[in-house]
Amino acid sequence: MSDPHAGAMDVVNELWASSVLAAALASALTDASADTPAQALDRDADRAALLRNLPDAEATLESLWAERAALGAALVSVLSQAAAAAAGATRAWSDLSDEAMRAQGEASARMADVIVSKIGPAYGLFRPGHVTRILDVGTGVGAIATALAAAVADAVVTGIDVADRPLAIAETRRAAMTDVRERVRLRHQDVVDLDEVDAYDVVWMPVPFIPDAIIDEALTRVLRALRPGGLLVLGTIPAAGRRRLRAANAWLAAVAGGSTLTTDDVVDRVNRRGLAGMQLFESVRGGPVILAAISPREGAPSGNG
Ligand SMILES: C[S@@+](CC[C@H](N)C(=O)[O-])C[C@H]1O[C@@H](n2cnc3c(N)ncnc32)[C@H](O)[C@@H]1O
Repeated sequence: MSDPHAGAMDVVNELWASSVLAAALASALTDASADTPAQALDRDADRAALLRNLPDAEATLESLWAERAALGAALVSVLSQAAAAAAGATRAWSDLSDEAMRAQGEASARMADVIVSKIGPAYGLFRPGHVTRILDVGTGVGAIATALAAAVADAVVTGIDVADRPLAIAETRRAAMTDVRERVRLRHQDVVDLDEVDAYDVVWMPVPFIPDAIIDEALTRVLRALRPGGLLVLGTIPAAGRRRLRAANAWLAAVAGGSTLTTDDVVDRVNRRGLAGMQLFESVRGGPVILAAISPREGAPSGNG
């Protein structure tokens, strides 16, 4: 008769190896000393031996290589969040370690590239000589806020966050960036306490990090803060095709107090609020999708949903 304990240990060992394999992939993708996938495999014999367990390792690395920075940062971030969830250390986003917060900041800075290089041109934003007032909701360690200020010469970026610890890291980052620090403002504030009116030209809000219970009020507040005709830009996560990945995303969102809404759910909400000119932008293949839409000129309906 087969030993049920041995079967269970096989499952544990398989998961153990998979999680370290994910770490090896993250390490190869973020390896600053490798310029090509072949070099990433050659650099470290032990890492290469593990990576060769990926299906068709060379071809897989090759196909991910163009997006290695964004994918590597996202993998590092999810591994840090998963480790915190495993240790039961996370109740809210701000319970993560400084390293995990910084990893998430680096991963999210990719959103600033998409906003500047794809969304700005699509909506005629960021013209030289025009001050663009940007609100960054849930600014965290300030990676998006400072990247936006660095990329858009005339931007004034306000970052708000409910948590002190990431804001302290953001403040250090801001102070160190002498060329942008005058145009980045950081504030301790819950998005549902935002009471500004017509104060911004662009609002960025990453929906996955805003708890489900307050997302409708958060949308009401940010739409009021946005000037009529201003651009609402929302980070969203598409529903994962695979059940296991869907469940994994949902658990991480639940332990860190984030949102379970998918891209389609957010599209519905935005449509119901009467925003115009909605477009969806891919950030990383298969990763977060950024939704952009123009605030109604007559003012947004304030009803929930
Ligand atoms: C993942 S971080 C965003 C990453 C960020 N772009 C960076 O550069 O670090 C999400 C942030 O949203 C903040 N947050 C969550 N709920 C919030 C709320 N109701 N109002 C304001 N910020 C909130 C969390 O404290 C957290 O720092």
